[in-house]
Amino acid sequence: MSKIDINGDIVESLTGTTIEKKKSRIPARLDFLQSATGLILALFIIFHLIFESSILFGKDSMYAITKMFEGEFIVKDGSPIFISTLAMVIFAIFIFHAFLAMRKFPSSYREYLRYRTHAKLMNHADTNLWFIQITTGFMLFFLGSIHLYIMMTQPQNIGPFASSDRIYSDLMWPMYLMLLVSVVLHAGVGVYRLIMKWGWFDGENPRQNRIRTRKIIKIVVVFYLLIGLFSLASYIKIGYEHRVDYGKRYSVNMGDK
Ligand code: HEM
Repeated sequence: MSKIDINGDIVESLTGTTIEKKKSRIPARLDFLQSATGLILALFIIFHLIFESSILFGKDSMYAITKMFEGEFIVKDGSPIFISTLAMVIFAIFIFHAFLAMRKFPSSYREYLRYRTHAKLMNHADTNLWFIQITTGFMLFFLGSIHLYIMMTQPQNIGPFASSDRIYSDLMWPMYLMLLVSVVLHAGVGVYRLIMKWGWFDGENPRQNRIRTRKIIKIVVVFYLLIGLFSLASYIKIGYEHRVDYGKRYSVNMGDK
């Protein structure tokens, strides 16, 4: 019989002599998959929030982007099935990423509270970042799932009026506000931790470059929060003006009023 440590490594034989340490590769593989799926999702969000802010340039711009995602360049007039399919792929990656992340969650409420007290006492920057990521990740389980489910099942209801009606008249704006803050913080902290973990931009002077990376990520996070908030305000304004015509769809002939 051999003793096995928590990583699944054989550390001691029956006679008490240490034998070959056979490292399990599973934790490292799961860690890599978590980083890879996180990176894919972060890249998706970086583009998603930019496309979605097309509403800031007017209804025609957002309409054109919607039609592009409906594959207008492949089939005549486009089809919402393309959006639905994309949402399914993203949802699958999202669930897999969340499943892998569950390993890192505090396993009880007591452990969570103990951790919070510890983080407050230490006030250590990286410990606080980890705490932000765990909390926003937990929120995303719910908020991200609601949004993705709607995108999968109602892909035809996207556009300057349809989206604004959902956000204003269907009262989805509080959900989007929470989703925006959680996803931008989560992706920002996640990408920062990835860069630190794999030392991507360490170069000749890791200390200085890490401080620089931190600054750049802070600026990007603020930028995305701002464009997200302005876009949301824009959808709310359009939804409010369109409330009497709830359900009526936008078309280019209407002009960009
Ligand atoms: C293929 C999958 C997705 C599609 C097709 C999609 C599409 C959209 C659309 C059309 C809107 C505008 C509001 C609406 O019509 O309801 C929107 C808003 C938003 N989406 Fe997504 N989305 C997808 C995935 C995600 C994911 C995975 C997240 C984050 C977990 C996310 C975060 C957001 C946020 C935060 C907003 C509001 C942005 C703002 O404040 O302006 N989306 N999305």
